[in-house]
Amino acid sequence: MIENEMDFEGRLAAPEYTQEDSEIENSLRPKQLSDYIGQEKAKANLSIYIQAARLRGEPLDHVLLYGPPGLGKTTLAAIVANEMGVNIRVTSGPAIEKQGDLVAILSNLESGDVLFIDEIHRLNRTVEEILYPAMEDGKIDIIIGKGPSARSYQLSLPRFTLIGATTRAGQISAPLRDRFGVVLRLEMYNQQELAQIVKRSSGILNIPLDDEGALQIAGRSRGTPRIANRLLKRSRDFAEVKYDGVITKEAAEEALTSMEIDGLGLDAIDRRMLTTMIRNYNGGPVGLETIAAAIGEESVTIEDVYEPYLMQIGFLARTPRGRTVTPAAYQHLGIPWNPNSNTAATVQMSFDD
Ligand code: ADE
Repeated sequence: MIENEMDFEGRLAAPEYTQEDSEIENSLRPKQLSDYIGQEKAKANLSIYIQAARLRGEPLDHVLLYGPPGLGKTTLAAIVANEMGVNIRVTSGPAIEKQGDLVAILSNLESGDVLFIDEIHRLNRTVEEILYPAMEDGKIDIIIGKGPSARSYQLSLPRFTLIGATTRAGQISAPLRDRFGVVLRLEMYNQQELAQIVKRSSGILNIPLDDEGALQIAGRSRGTPRIANRLLKRSRDFAEVKYDGVITKEAAEEALTSMEIDGLGLDAIDRRMLTTMIRNYNGGPVGLETIAAAIGEESVTIEDVYEPYLMQIGFLARTPRGRTVTPAAYQHLGIPWNPNSNTAATVQMSFDD
């Protein structure tokens, strides 16, 4: 689950997993829907589907969870399994390399189990083809042997619930998407919800945190519980060394400022991306690949990690001709906005995506 993600190490505002996160998250993970803060719409619907499935004595229909990283997709899957009273088996798209890997996982499930596949958009096509009949009819076709002696067998599987998670709903093939009976979009959390989440975490981890400290951390966590919990831990370090151990507003402010996380949660890379777009391309429109090359980041990282929050707070807009920095972002960065100077950026765009 955490492979490929070490590039994000050291970036406190990255929603991607680190080893430390997975350890903290496991201890903080709510076990029941009633302890899960936020995502009210998804929670209300899931709660009905879970109750109905339980009443009928059936497994829950297959569920697709999508939305930016760090919003609690794995946590929700574990809650579903817990509330259904079944086991959960956790894997990820890139970890399942061959058809045989998936056959082994599926045939080892017990009746009713949840199979959670993170980053399901990264499953390869041949593996995905095994999933279709498995999801639809609880059967898989396997071929044993090669050449003229090859034989095809059909294997019946125990009934199971597939929970797929993805940051990119658009990249899931139509046949796979159509086989999910429940599709839920997770939204970014608001400041109040994040404050509640860090208060809950501080209680579990025994970290003294006052209400204003919680709001301070929440306001700079980019709508993402994973970041909020990470900032909580780093703020504790400051509080213990300089503020008698309690995370107050001042302690949190000093911790966050020292980590170069500004009042809206933007870190040095967000600011570099926006200022590069402004200084080199007059604020856009500018193509994704051009931005990626200019700041030395992968375009998928920009799309999955930086852009969702910048768009959420209205600092960045996606247009058919490329990305544009909004006047609100100029204001936040203290750069005067000149709407009449976009010609250079337009010329640039015609060579880009
Ligand atoms: N920890 C991480 N996400 C959470 C959530 N949504 N509710 C409660 N605790 C969490």
